[in-house]
Amino acid sequence: MADPHAKMTQATPQEVIISLLAGLFAPLLAIFLIVQLVLGIQEEQQADTTSEAAQKATLARIKPFAQLVALDANAPRVEKAGQEVYDAVCSSCHSSGALGAPRFNNKGDWSGRLGQGYDTLVKHAIEGIRQMPPRGGDGDLSDVEVARAVVYMANSAGASFKEPAVAAPAAPAATPDAAAAPAAGVENK
Ligand code: HEC
Repeated sequence: MADPHAKMTQATPQEVIISLLAGLFAPLLAIFLIVQLVLGIQEEQQADTTSEAAQKATLARIKPFAQLVALDANAPRVEKAGQEVYDAVCSSCHSSGALGAPRFNNKGDWSGRLGQGYDTLVKHAIEGIRQMPPRGGDGDLSDVEVARAVVYMANSAGASFKEPAVAAPAAPAATPDAAAAPAAGVENK
């Protein structure tokens, strides 16, 4: 009588190869299917962003931010008035005299400097001098805005400089009107 277990425990070489292949193939197949699934999901989502509805939904989601930056880049720049620039940028040093800055409304601090004349003062304010950073550290300020702030400060300390009238060279059309309004506001001190 043949032992019935003998057949069960003895695998032929073919059986060994087949079970090895099957053991390798099953996980590979599983990985392949998972990758396909993920790619499929990604594709679905990417395709969606081009549809009009999806774009509208995106626009709606970013709307609060879009409103903040939705300024017309071609609109003429409205130059800030001297007082506005001073309050926003220059006052941090020039109201207290930080770093030795000549103080607003202080004739003693400014008397020696005013003698240099308007052009030199504006040049120093734009280019910076010693502890005074160029444009007060705000590179976004235009030359006209810096000059107006200089006029505002210097006049507070006894000078009688005139506001620079003409605004930015970039926008010729509507600029004079736009510039005139803030300039007028500065005179009434
Ligand atoms: C970080 C501090 C700081 C800020 C901000 C600042 N200044 Fe000054 N400013 C100084 C100091 C310090 C001096 C004195 C520099 C010196 O003569 O050594 C000075 C001097 C000046 C002078 C006199 C220059 C001269 O030749 O005597 C002018 C004009 C001036 N600042 C304009 C401005 C204007 C306009 C702004 C704003 C746009 C501004 N500053 C912002 C620190 C500052």
